[in-house]
Amino acid sequence: MNNQPKRQLDARDSVSRSGARETAPKKDPRAVSLESAMARHGYAADALIEILHHAQKLYGHLDKPMLLKIARRLKLPPSRVLGVATFYHLFRLTPPDRHNATVCMGTACYVAGAAELLEFLEKRCKSAPNGGVKVGCGRCIGSCGLAPLVVYDGETVADVTRRKLEKLLDEAGAK
Ligand code: FES
Repeated sequence: MNNQPKRQLDARDSVSRSGARETAPKKDPRAVSLESAMARHGYAADALIEILHHAQKLYGHLDKPMLLKIARRLKLPPSRVLGVATFYHLFRLTPPDRHNATVCMGTACYVAGAAELLEFLEKRCKSAPNGGVKVGCGRCIGSCGLAPLVVYDGETVADVTRRKLEKLLDEAGAK
């Protein structure tokens, strides 16, 4: 005999024709939050910037389906929503980079091969510009004894070699 207590049905449950209990899939909490933000603003067109900002905070960026959804809900032409999203630099239409690699191009690092490392990184990361590794270069950070160095996701990597970079990129999933 099964001694398990029976769970009460809630609003999301339904019973199929065969009599089996089915549970409706839960809504994405981000979608719920975005919808309630729009409702809070009364789906007003002049709340567009706040809504875009909220959507970006939730999803990390604003892709085309998201912009179309917001346009529909606020009853705005999609061109206006896209225009606002592209006008302001704070809005991102593509996913943010997951990792950052900054090659120090100060004299000591340069002499130790920083330019070659930068070239290698740029080539290797070109195939995954979004959602991959953002490559850049910077000035001396005052740790010249560790040259050449790369600041990777805020951490200083000393005595960098191509092999070390390859390992970091493999871990990041960059092609
Ligand atoms: S030159 Fe790279 S840390 Fe100084």
